[in-house]
Amino acid sequence: MADVKLLPPEAELETKRVLKQLSRSHRALAELKGFADMIPNKNILINAVTINEAKDSSEIENIITTHDELFKAMSQENYNNPAAKEVVNYRTALWHGYKLVKEKKILTTNMIVEIQQLIEKNRAGIRKLPGTVLKNEATGEVVYTPPSGEKEILALMSNLEKYINDDYDNVDPLIKLAVIHYQFETIHPFYDGNGRTGRIINVLYLILKELLDSPILYLSKYIIRNKSAYYRLLQEVRTKGNWEEWILFILEGIELTAEETLLLVKRINNVVEKTAKDIKDVLPKIYSRELVDLLFYEFYTKIVYIEKGLNVSRKTASAYLSSLEETGFLVSQKIGKERIYLNTRLFEVVQQAGMEK
Ligand SMILES: Nc1ncnc2c1ncn2[C@@H]1O[C@H](COP(=O)(O)OP(=O)(O)OP(=O)(O)O)[C@@H](O)[C@H]1O
Ligand SMILES: [Mg+2]
Repeated sequence: MADVKLLPPEAELETKRVLKQLSRSHRALAELKGFADMIPNKNILINAVTINEAKDSSEIENIITTHDELFKAMSQENYNNPAAKEVVNYRTALWHGYKLVKEKKILTTNMIVEIQQLIEKNRAGIRKLPGTVLKNEATGEVVYTPPSGEKEILALMSNLEKYINDDYDNVDPLIKLAVIHYQFETIHPFYDGNGRTGRIINVLYLILKELLDSPILYLSKYIIRNKSAYYRLLQEVRTKGNWEEWILFILEGIELTAEETLLLVKRINNVVEKTAKDIKDVLPKIYSRELVDLLFYEFYTKIVYIEKGLNVSRKTASAYLSSLEETGFLVSQKIGKERIYLNTRLFEVVQQAGMEK
């Protein structure tokens, strides 16, 4: 069984190569933060970005779904597609974690347990029984056996919790993010969902350290693209003490992902602004900024959301959505008993970004 080393790592983490990459990663991240901070309705942005993150992050676990299925699962409580449902659960967990960190300004083991529970939709919690092993996906060979026993796992988690919340070591937060991710995956506190929970912790840590205000930077896609390096480098920290390559891998991911996310955020912002202008031109009588924001809150809407959001009658809300459909802004679909209106412009932007690998 593994003997997990307590944090902080003994090795020198801020090497020359790391410091060089660190400033590039910070620069890209700060640019993303700066742009995102200026956008008026942040929920639109967060919702759009997290749809793709939920999809990507779940895909590592081979939960494959399409945007179309996701839209149905999101808009309908009882939609019967387990894969899409899992993705929706991931997004719920992400939002929950974000709200907790924003409100409490700490990230604790209990919060992490809550997040994992929402991902897995079960209450198994911290592992109590032995038998969890990590295998090489291709060969099936056991590469690592994480610690077992609730007591030991909780002690390791409490050491990690302290490292997350107290900056006693004065190490740069982006470097610490890499350390935290390694340590969390190495403790592997749950029977399942450790990867997805760990990827949510990454973004929550950026929020906690105020490097981002909105949860919009996700390494999942980068990890999918570089999956074998990701697994190999995690393992090399353990077997060779190779912190430098691992930290560089994460820092490069942050730089690249921040640049890509900035482009996506700009695209989302453009489509919102362009649509606002077009609705104002084509349907001046029903135009309001609140209406536009509601249309973009998710990539679909329903009569009841407009009714409540604008405080109008059901009849008026329904008439608004019909006019928007007639003029081509929305496309409706009957799902079950309900009519759902898809914001096709936003859907296309999100879907297209989701398909770029
Ligand atoms: N050799 C290793 N050392 C430490 N952690 C590892 C190693 N190999 C894999 N992991 C971690 O374990 C995660 C998988 O664990 P688990 O199946 O519990 O999570 P998941 O969320 O269900 O899956 P996934 O991460 O594949 O989506 C990987 O994402 C990775 O972070
Ligand atoms: Mg799993």
